[in-house]
Amino acid sequence: MEKVLVLDFGGQYNQLIARRVRDDHIYAEILPYTTDLAKIREANYKGIIFTGGPNSVYDESSPHYTKDILELGVPILGICYGCQLMAWMRGGKVMTAPVSEYGKIDLRVTAESPLFAGVPAESVVWMSHTDYIAEPPAGFETVAATENCPCAAMQNPAKKLYAVQFHPEVTHTAYGAQILHNFLYTVCGCKGDWVMDSFIEDTVAALREKIGDKQVILGLSGGVDSSVAAGLLSRAVGKQLTCVFVDQGLMRKNEGDFVEQTFTQLFDMNFVRVNCGDIFLQKLKGVTDPEEKRHIIGDEFYKVFWDEIKTRAKGDAYFAQGTIYPDRIESGKGASGKGAGSAVIKTHHNQRAIPKDIDFLGVIEPLADLFKDEVRAVGEKLGIPHELVWRQPFPGPGLGVRIIGEITAEKIRITQDADFVLRDEMAKNGYEKELAQFFTVFTGAKAVGVMGDHRTYENVIAIRAVTTDDFMTADWARIPYDILATVSNRITNEVEGVNRVVYDITSKPPGTVEWE
Ligand code: XMP
Repeated sequence: MEKVLVLDFGGQYNQLIARRVRDDHIYAEILPYTTDLAKIREANYKGIIFTGGPNSVYDESSPHYTKDILELGVPILGICYGCQLMAWMRGGKVMTAPVSEYGKIDLRVTAESPLFAGVPAESVVWMSHTDYIAEPPAGFETVAATENCPCAAMQNPAKKLYAVQFHPEVTHTAYGAQILHNFLYTVCGCKGDWVMDSFIEDTVAALREKIGDKQVILGLSGGVDSSVAAGLLSRAVGKQLTCVFVDQGLMRKNEGDFVEQTFTQLFDMNFVRVNCGDIFLQKLKGVTDPEEKRHIIGDEFYKVFWDEIKTRAKGDAYFAQGTIYPDRIESGKGASGKGAGSAVIKTHHNQRAIPKDIDFLGVIEPLADLFKDEVRAVGEKLGIPHELVWRQPFPGPGLGVRIIGEITAEKIRITQDADFVLRDEMAKNGYEKELAQFFTVFTGAKAVGVMGDHRTYENVIAIRAVTTDDFMTADWARIPYDILATVSNRITNEVEGVNRVVYDITSKPPGTVEWE
């Protein structure tokens, strides 16, 4: 399989670069700039991309790489910081630009380059830099410029070295996809063998070979990743797969049944549903502190889950999980600041160590190399319903973090019913895919109201809906008033125990997406 390396110098768009390369049907992997050259040499990459980053190359503590990488004979494309780094490594002059460029800027192609085949002489690119290449190194030719950046792209075709100051990976660069395509296919000579159909075939074959006649146990949460992992494993080994689905009673309305029906009807496998809502309610009785609730839910979930797995695995089965590529990328971000360079591994909210006293043949992670959009593409090809494949993120503690105060069966019922109405109206009005996440919150507040001639004193439900790309920051969604009015009407009419609905208009920061 053809592979391209995205060498991470700490830029914010690095995963995006890898995704763009994969969208163009070439497998890309991300490694931190602290990776050994020997490892890179051995991997036989078809091309290497140096990413952007927040530092200045002339600053000694900034991330660098041995110049020997430029002699591998492997084509290299430097982007932004990576562009300046390439210039600097070859003795070019990099300094603070008299004018920083940020945002959409007009680019002029000034000389012939394979990078710009099919790109007009003038086009818009996305810039974000305060340093620039004042003088390209010997052997390099400037091939594009902007008004304030005399060397916006340079090349040394004999050495297969190319660099662009702008970001071809972001959609604001009008011909960014074409420029990356030119680098990958013309300069690197890739053919494009990364397609999801062959991924499924190859993975299924590899899983069959690895698993042989043994059993596999998968923890199914009903989320996208574990669902797609279940689909792949079922295709590979059918009834040798047992999916364990722990229903803690804190899911959305009818969700447990939906997951069970989907998987038992769609796939050949053993499906085990552990219903333990009552135990959770007992453990949560009287608990109001958000962190304590989270801990109890998390601890109890894993206790039930691992107990179930332990009795089934008996040391003679594989354990499978839906880990995906972003869960395990080592980032080059440790680089910023002084000295440093220590890579950090991102961990997921819910990731916990597998208990030592559980004996498996091994751990299987069939999606470990895929980005989320690739996981979804595989899911669609496996015939998993749209509803599951495009599911919104749902917190591990479930409705537990959407019910403020003590959790009771009645509050769960109210939250589920209100959420059901919201989801129904969002779907009817085409907002399902538009918004990153929406749900209702049991606020714990009570309000006075009137119903007919009666005074009421009932619960206040909040609607939370956000738009975001990465959940690190988020904005509250501008849902039209008419739709909000319908949702509010329906909730107060259809959900017993609610007489008031409010809309959360807080962005993140200062708020978070969830209330607890
Ligand atoms: P916050 O509330 O931190 O949420 O702004 C950001 C995103 O993370 C989800 N979230 C969780 N996901 N386990 C998860 O798997 C959790 O404990 C958890 N808490 C929040 C939240 O739904 C949003 O998508």
